[in-house]
Amino acid sequence: MAKDKSIYICNECGASSARWLGKCPGCGAWNTLVETIAEPAAAGGKNRLGASFAALVPPAGVRPLAEIEAVDVARTPTGQGELDRVLGGGIVQGQVVLIGGDPGIGKSTLLLQALDALQRTQRGGDTLAAGPLPRQGAAPSGGSAAGEAAQRGSSMLYVTGEESGAQVALRAKRLGITGSQVAVLAEIQLEKILATLGQQQPAVAVIDSIQTVYSDQLTSAPGSVAQVRECAAHLTRWAKASGCAVVLVGHVTKDGQLAGPRVLEHMVDTVLYFEGDTHSSFRLIRAIKNRFGAVNEIGVFAMTERGLKGVSNPSAIFLSQHAQPVPGSCVLVTLEGTRPMLVEIQALVDTGGPSPRRLSVGLERDRLAMLLAVLHQHAGVATGDQDVFVNAVGGVRISEPAADLAVLLAITSSLRGKALPKGFIAFGEVGLAGEVRPAPRGQERLKEAAKLGFSVAVVPKANAPKKSDKAFEGLTIHAVERVDEAMALLRGLDA
Ligand code: TYD
Ligand code: MG
Repeated sequence: MAKDKSIYICNECGASSARWLGKCPGCGAWNTLVETIAEPAAAGGKNRLGASFAALVPPAGVRPLAEIEAVDVARTPTGQGELDRVLGGGIVQGQVVLIGGDPGIGKSTLLLQALDALQRTQRGGDTLAAGPLPRQGAAPSGGSAAGEAAQRGSSMLYVTGEESGAQVALRAKRLGITGSQVAVLAEIQLEKILATLGQQQPAVAVIDSIQTVYSDQLTSAPGSVAQVRECAAHLTRWAKASGCAVVLVGHVTKDGQLAGPRVLEHMVDTVLYFEGDTHSSFRLIRAIKNRFGAVNEIGVFAMTERGLKGVSNPSAIFLSQHAQPVPGSCVLVTLEGTRPMLVEIQALVDTGGPSPRRLSVGLERDRLAMLLAVLHQHAGVATGDQDVFVNAVGGVRISEPAADLAVLLAITSSLRGKALPKGFIAFGEVGLAGEVRPAPRGQERLKEAAKLGFSVAVVPKANAPKKSDKAFEGLTIHAVERVDEAMALLRGLDA
């Protein structure tokens, strides 16, 4: 194959240059040029905007929206209930999923388990092996897919660029899935991978990882922005043209971003992040974007000796066990997707040096600074000369503002050296004016706490149940409207 010419395109303004330059000739931005393959000029310049439009044949597919039938996407469960939960019920034909996470967190393990389970249920073929996607007027450009897709098998393909076939086999043995019919290809060259995809016509293909794949057409190294983008674009096109679901594994950089361009997140249908503390056995999968389901849903897994096992009732796994209540600890009821979860928030307030530190793990640091200011201004609790450390136990990351009240109560408890009462929970957002705002679906949170045997709750007024309900039995609910009210309540509870 003749090598296509490379050109360099500016990420900011789109200007192009024949060679790499430090400064974009178009917009003057620095270090924004990335290598891409020059599009071969289409006959008569058909694709170019400048060409005469009269010569273009309009596609026949223009129809009023009302006439287009809305078909529900058919989902195939992956055999991993928690993974299906984040995917929105299962994997969809032609779906492109990007799954990111720290090294060693369990991406390869989960995907191998899922492929094997899919392979076992797909024998004889069903929804996933049903041929190309119905896309009107879209000429497939990812290969010779469309024609052959009708005969597509129901096989699962695992492309590994990081490990050898033997290493994958070793992992399979450890997982107890010997005798697996999943096809394995150890390959990192995009053209060869695409050729294999064309020949094998798998129903689901996993590319582990996208950073190891490189295309012949570009001179830049595997893992570079240009390579990652180009390879992901080709694989996405293949998925859409053939109906094969493609799962791309992506690495995460130190600051938690998916390595490679953000454009990868825009290109794919679903973005999943694997998170959790590698020192604990629990792992969370979070959907950041999902064209086929809800976001913010999480899946919870435990890493065991034999791979990842779904945790279907995760509400109490992020609580640490204290025989007696300790100062600086407050349990928060957080709502992740559709499930309430109880997470322990710990705070430690200590005499600080000349510039006191504010550190948070699993919670936003800026939010912590804001909460401390509210605590000072509206409840008269000063921490200006103190170090404040806050931690969400178990490596969970909490982004919802409903954690505010629990954070403030944990901080005050540590500052006073007094533990909160036994069986205490709290939730609620705190505003800059010192008000405590309601959290979404408060009743569900309270029900979960009551179910797990908690006995005292401090919640926003609007979340307190209007009438007594059996579901809250055993739980004394204190409703507060302002931060100072919550602090006064704490003092009352001591007595
Ligand atoms: P892996 O899937 O290789 O992570 P990633 O692909 O995200 O880099 O996970 C490897 C880790 O999981 C490794 O530290 C060993 C551990 N592990 C288990 O605890 N039990 C198992 O059954 C397997 C296969 C791995
Ligand atoms: Mg891996």
